[in-house]
Amino acid sequence: MLGLAGAASARPQGGNCRGSGTTPGGGFDGNGASLPSSPFTYVPFTREMPKPPVKAPCAIIDPTNPTQSNNLPWQPGNCHHGVAPEYFNQPSDWQAGPLKLYEMDQKDGVHEIIPGVQTPIRGYDGIYPGPTFRSRMCEPMVLRVKNSLNTQTSVHLHGAHNPAHCDGYPNFYVSPGQQRDYYYPNICPRKPDGSGQWDTTESPSTMWYHDHGMDLTAENVVMGMAGFHIFTDALEEQLVADNVLPGGDQDLPIVLQDRRLRSDGTIFFDALDHNGYLGDIMVVNGAAQPFLRVQRRKYRFRFLDGANARFFLLRLTWGNFTQIGNDSWLLPQAIETNELLLSPAKRTDVIVDFTNAPNEVYLVNILKQDSGRGPGGTTANPQRLNPGVPMMKFIVEGPVVGNDATVVPGTPLRPHHSIAPSEITTTREFLFHRSNGAWMINGKFFDEFRADATPTVGSAERWILKNGGGGWWHPVHIHLESHQIVKLNGQTPAPSLRYKSDVAILGPNDTAEVHMRFRTFTGPFVFHCHNLEHEDMRMMFVFDPRTNPTQAPQPIQSYYP
Ligand code: C2O
Ligand code: CU
Ligand code: CU
Repeated sequence: MLGLAGAASARPQGGNCRGSGTTPGGGFDGNGASLPSSPFTYVPFTREMPKPPVKAPCAIIDPTNPTQSNNLPWQPGNCHHGVAPEYFNQPSDWQAGPLKLYEMDQKDGVHEIIPGVQTPIRGYDGIYPGPTFRSRMCEPMVLRVKNSLNTQTSVHLHGAHNPAHCDGYPNFYVSPGQQRDYYYPNICPRKPDGSGQWDTTESPSTMWYHDHGMDLTAENVVMGMAGFHIFTDALEEQLVADNVLPGGDQDLPIVLQDRRLRSDGTIFFDALDHNGYLGDIMVVNGAAQPFLRVQRRKYRFRFLDGANARFFLLRLTWGNFTQIGNDSWLLPQAIETNELLLSPAKRTDVIVDFTNAPNEVYLVNILKQDSGRGPGGTTANPQRLNPGVPMMKFIVEGPVVGNDATVVPGTPLRPHHSIAPSEITTTREFLFHRSNGAWMINGKFFDEFRADATPTVGSAERWILKNGGGGWWHPVHIHLESHQIVKLNGQTPAPSLRYKSDVAILGPNDTAEVHMRFRTFTGPFVFHCHNLEHEDMRMMFVFDPRTNPTQAPQPIQSYYP
């Protein structure tokens, strides 16, 4: 591997950054010397960044019109796996808006990650990345998912507060040739004060959906099964209407991934590599190192690390980021930062202000990583010479645009309420460690039929998440609820991590203390390392919130159709 020097030494140059005929594989720290480099050349920054299409509902049902609402196809028996039990038993305030019906087919497709190279993929609606869903508080949806692939799938909406039945539990499969109806109420939790009001401090913004099939997640995701789900509510709509946050064409979800290709154009994936998949082609919204034309104004970029195992430390070759969100949630106030650390599954929602930018700005990754173990130092020096591997290029055009969005560091966004230590009733400890070449939590492998934690619905808990070491990184994701990272190795974490997260990055030997409240839904749900190879090799546990602490475990089998 040439490391950094080959790809993007000093400032990335426009057009072909490595002389004639760029071999992307040569430019990056790959997965050790043992894996073949992708045998293709292309000229980076010559292809426009794709924008995944927004998914349109196939029907919009007025819940007050009985002819519409009585004749829905979404009934038990009409679909192999039915919809969540909550669909038939909703509190009245779950459906302030219309019910939107969507249909999506999981099927094979062909996609050009590199121009001219036909790569077979597995995609939601056959495309990669999948279509972007846009949803709104209290406007529920039913998503009928077909499976035209010849592999089991399970669709998880990452960052959502959703019933267990539609959460993409690893073995609540959509089997080949069959379909499942997922019911997303699109609510947020209620306030803990008993008022019954929505706790809009918990309303999400940037979620994503991806495959979660048991033992198959890593391969299905690498083959293309991931997309965005953007949520909004009255508070966030007001921020856009008041011109505080950019909206419309200036609000772009951007997924960063890495892929490796074989000479026939297929995606290289080794099902026996349990350390973590690393590609040698940097892929942004499905295209290798694209460009994006921007005006001289502010943009909102919702970055997602959609890679299986690669971490990114992002910088711009000019200017800083104004971070407005972490994972699913807006921050209480905007924060200025020059770097963004992303682990697999993490989102960071940022504003970039191109008003005074030069004509070309690059988004670069300055982390070195040559194995699934995790990143190994940075490639950049503080002077921003030798800035790292360029992910994409922004071409800045035209005059300064007036009347631009007003957000700046310090701008108030979404309020946050900390869980008080006095509210916590239970402390649990989880050690994430390696054993015999596989991955365990507290000495156990994932068992989809065993509940490893049974919190009481409505209670708050303290979870101590510990990395067992060995130099491995484990980005730990907990479904259903936001968690508040109160201590990272005994210290208060960085400002952007002090509020709500759904992925806690555990570097080697790190310990995170997180507080969270269990609300609304009983289980089962999972939490796991989001290095997808670690997850598939069983670094995953079940938590099963119960309404009453003495209640017998909900037999997990009862969730089967
Ligand atoms: Cu993003 Cu359980 O996953
Ligand atoms: Cu999740
Ligand atoms: Cu891990």
